Amino acid sequence: MSNKRDGSPTVTSPDGVRLAVQTTGDPAAPAVVAVHGYPDDHTVWDGVVADLAVDHHVITYDVRGAGGSEAPRDRSGYRLDHLTEDLVAVLDEVAPGRKVHLLAHDWGAIQTWHSVTDPRLAGRVASYTSISGPDLDHIGAWFRRRSSLRDVLRQARASWYTVLFRTPRLPELIWRSGLGARLVSAMEGVPRAVTRDAVNGLELYRANIAERIADPQPRRTDLPVQVLAPTRDRYVTPPMQTGIGEFVPDLRVRHIPGGHWVPRSRPDVIARAVRELVTHVEGGTEAPALRRARAGTGRWTDRLVVVTGAGSGIGRATALAFARRGAEIVVADRDLDTAQRTVDLIGDGRSTAHQVDVSDGGAMEEFAKLVVTEHGVPDVVINNAGIGMAGSFADTTLADWQRIVDVNLWGVIHGCRQFAPLMKEHGEGGHIVNVASAAAYLPQRTLSAYATTKSAVLTLSECLRAELGDDGIGVTALCPGFVHTNITATTRFVGTDAATEQQRQKATTAAYAKRNYTPERVAEAVVRAVEKDVALAPVTPEAHVGLALSRLTPGLLRAVARKDVSL
Ligand SMILES: NC(=O)c1ccc[n+]([C@@H]2O[C@H](COP(=O)([O-])OP(=O)(O)OC[C@H]3O[C@@H](n4cnc5c(N)ncnc54)[C@H](O)[C@@H]3O)[C@@H](O)[C@H]2O)c1
Repeated sequence: MSNKRDGSPTVTSPDGVRLAVQTTGDPAAPAVVAVHGYPDDHTVWDGVVADLAVDHHVITYDVRGAGGSEAPRDRSGYRLDHLTEDLVAVLDEVAPGRKVHLLAHDWGAIQTWHSVTDPRLAGRVASYTSISGPDLDHIGAWFRRRSSLRDVLRQARASWYTVLFRTPRLPELIWRSGLGARLVSAMEGVPRAVTRDAVNGLELYRANIAERIADPQPRRTDLPVQVLAPTRDRYVTPPMQTGIGEFVPDLRVRHIPGGHWVPRSRPDVIARAVRELVTHVEGGTEAPALRRARAGTGRWTDRLVVVTGAGSGIGRATALAFARRGAEIVVADRDLDTAQRTVDLIGDGRSTAHQVDVSDGGAMEEFAKLVVTEHGVPDVVINNAGIGMAGSFADTTLADWQRIVDVNLWGVIHGCRQFAPLMKEHGEGGHIVNVASAAAYLPQRTLSAYATTKSAVLTLSECLRAELGDDGIGVTALCPGFVHTNITATTRFVGTDAATEQQRQKATTAAYAKRNYTPERVAEAVVRAVEKDVALAPVTPEAHVGLALSRLTPGLLRAVARKDVSL
């Protein structure tokens, strides 16, 4: 390695192009080589390097034509074979005789795919993490396969700029005028591209794309590979990045909430994913997130699901439904015995029971801390715990109001307050289900307290869904109708003496038993709602019909609401 005039070390490629190389961290630690894309230079990795270099030797370099590296004399110098020679030259210099872990983004990933399937790198690479840059031959094969017309059309629409970049002169004009840099920076929130790098890099598109896409020769690799596919990538859609299993048998796919430049927006998430793969490949344990990312793994295998009020009814059935699909469940209830019974019914040896009163903010904070420490950040949180209350507004005391608002509304607020920020910070998405009720949109003269809490939960869920969408966190308001559970036996009937209350509880329980809509059916609806990321999920026919009527003929519902239907 020699030193360039500006002080950064350089490596010389076989065709004489000198490349600026940067190294950080302990040279004895596992080596990660990060390759940037277009129109970036090595600084796109700054955040990732700062995180990874704590326990890795991190090597970055400026790709030919970018940053501190020289540009080849003509277009042919940008062909993928030259870019592979650059990588080999860097490895010979900074990691001779060692296997390295590769990490690459955008064009860096495209060229690295070419490299990892090239015999010249055989035996020199331990793993590959690819972000937003599939192999060009894989792209060609993917378009030809046309597995989904919708996906293909979506990608074709997203690829407009690759056509523009291959036209003569116009793209140079766009970059030199400063317009391109301003536009990309405004759209993506990234620093403005350096004009020289952006103009040079156009040759990557011109030298490589046409022939690969027209006549793909897909090559395989047996390396451990993980694809980190940003969910909101405007240029490389997730289906095209990830539909490559036939060429990459040891493949993991992780969907990272974010746009094309996730290495800049979420360096912590990228560094964590790389660290997990490196640790596993170097003989350490396989993190659950990595295990789940393997092809063929079920949607819910090893996912972490927290369910409150899971000692009975809908909560218990939902806990069991997710557990049957392979998830680990954290069962919470104010009644520890019933929570433990749910865990016994799950019987997977890893799900756990916890005694928590959801209306107690402090207890919920402690609970969330314990979940993260002992189990990790949940993938799904189901704020289900709730109580029933019926009777007139006039008979509802302040204490009644406080109790039902504390449990049904504050319980949900506490659950969201504790877990939503954790999921957001974690950066790998998730889902929150808030159990409301069809009473949220069906007024009833004897349900003012209960329905008020449930409509608040519905509105909270809608607002939170809007707020968390960009973080890949879905929020569902679940609105069941009449479901046969214990709730009818514990519902408070305000304005009645103990004997009358008991008689009403019995009568209501009998009516719900006759209706016989089981919590197990609700649980299946919960799983479906999460899988399809539904905003508002009515469950039971009456909840569906009620929702339609509330939109079409609210006047009719108001008239029905005036009828006294007390049992
Ligand atoms: N059953 C229905 O017809 C129906 C209809 C619509 C909505 N819901 C809602 O579904 C949810 C579940 O109700 P269910 O029907 O399964 O009732 P359920 O009584 O069978 O179960 C509720 C569980 O929540 C627990 N719980 C109550 N208060 C708690 C608190 N403060 N902290 C922790 N746990 C607490 C209870 O111990 C119980 O295990 C509730 O929010 C309820 O309002 C039920």
